[in-house]
Amino acid sequence: MTDVAPALTETIERTLILVKPDGVRRSLSGEILRRVEAKGYTLVAVRLLDATPELLAAHYAEHEGKPFFQPLVDFMLSGKILAVVAEGQGVIPGFRALAGATNPTEALPGTIRGDLGRDWGLKVQQNLVHGSDSPESAAREIALWFPELG
Ligand code: RTP
Ligand code: MG
Repeated sequence: MTDVAPALTETIERTLILVKPDGVRRSLSGEILRRVEAKGYTLVAVRLLDATPELLAAHYAEHEGKPFFQPLVDFMLSGKILAVVAEGQGVIPGFRALAGATNPTEALPGTIRGDLGRDWGLKVQQNLVHGSDSPESAAREIALWFPELG
C-alpha cells in the first residue's frame, strides 16, 4: 500500500483563483467559492486584499504592451480581490471550465462568467474571476499572491 499513496499525491494540482474587484463588489465571492467547493475542489488558502501595481505587473506580465493592459491594471486596483488557492486532480483546467470564456457574452450558461457576468461596454472585460492557465502559471502566480506557500 505504501507505494500507492505517493503516486496518487503527485497528481494533485493547485491553481490560483482570483475573484476580481467586480465579483467582490457585487457580493459574488460566496457564490463563486460555493461553485469551486461544490465541484469538489479543496480550498487551501483564501485572502482578501488590495493588489498593488507591482503585483499586477508581475501577475499580468504576459499582457504588457497590449491595449487592454493599463485598463486591466486599473480595474484590478479598483477594489478588493479575493485570492484563493484551490487543490484537486485537474483543478487547473477544471476551474477554467467552471469560469467559462474570457468574454462573458460568449461564456456559456452554467459557467461563472456565463451565469453571472456580462459586457459592460468598458475598456476591459470585467469577467469576475481569474484562473491559472497551466501548471507553470499556477506555480508562478501562487508564489506571487501567497509567498508563504511558495
Ligand atoms: P484570466 O487570465 O483573468 O483568468 O482570464 P483569461 O485567461 O480568460 O484571459 P486573458 O487573455 O489572460 O486576459 C486577462 C484578462 O484581461 C481582460 N481582457 N479584456 N479585449 C478585452 O477587453 C480583454 N481581453 C482580455 C479580461 O479581464 C481577462 O480575463
Ligand atoms: Mg489568463
